[in-house]
Amino acid sequence: MSEERPILAAPDPERISRVREMFGNIEGRYDFLNRLLSLRRDVSWRRFAVRRMRFPQTRRFLDVATGTADLAVEAVRHHREIGAVGIDFVPGMIEGARHKVGGAGRIRLLQGDALALPFADGSFDVAAVAFGIRNMPDRLGALREMARVVVPGGQVMVLEMHLPEIPVVRPCYRFYLCRILPRLAGALSGNPEAYQYLSESIVAFPPPRVFSEIMRSAGLEAVECHSLTLGVTCLHIGNKPGR
Ligand SMILES: C[S@@+](CC[C@H](N)C(=O)[O-])C[C@H]1O[C@@H](n2cnc3c(N)ncnc32)[C@H](O)[C@@H]1O
Repeated sequence: MSEERPILAAPDPERISRVREMFGNIEGRYDFLNRLLSLRRDVSWRRFAVRRMRFPQTRRFLDVATGTADLAVEAVRHHREIGAVGIDFVPGMIEGARHKVGGAGRIRLLQGDALALPFADGSFDVAAVAFGIRNMPDRLGALREMARVVVPGGQVMVLEMHLPEIPVVRPCYRFYLCRILPRLAGALSGNPEAYQYLSESIVAFPPPRVFSEIMRSAGLEAVECHSLTLGVTCLHIGNKPGR
């Protein structure tokens, strides 16, 4: 019965477990559909974020909700001196990431929850989440956890999809999101519910200015928002006070 209501309408514990199950079911086609549906923009969005990362102290990067580890892979490719940890609460995603990354190397992968990161305070120079925080009902809690595990002066980054704010673009993109994407991706993935949820979760996600305020409420300062591809995606950056 409860499976019939939209994921976003479910109470938080049910929503979290359905999101978990959903990502467990789409792992196999996840990368392919990301590239197709974003026309490979997702690759350049992650690259944009990685180029803004700084590693002056620990030389360690945390990729929260790593999925198939695309952000961690891009980070170690660009910053030759660092090691990365990718964490995700879906075992299938971590397996897919291990398959991509291989056994040895500079990326360590762990199963775990973004809301209870298994790291000491100040363990990383940078903690980032790409296209993950939208799926977490407690966004403030997730940001506070990321802020906790970075060093004073360290960076917290969020790469996330928004409804564009440009007047002509907004209705066109909304049409694509709500009418085209769920049908196309639903057919290709065999999981229409997942892509219906993707559209609904983007529409329901706070606009960039509101999200910047949530970053500040998490104790971050010098908060910046970089609008990418007409505002379809934004890179939010905040610094942990100190140093
Ligand atoms: C849309 S995917 C993004 C994956 C990857 N970061 C990327 O750039 O493609 C969202 C990921 O967030 C993970 N996730 C959602 N909530 C989480 C949580 N509370 N803790 C850890 N991972 C979570 C999901 O399992 C999924 O792999």
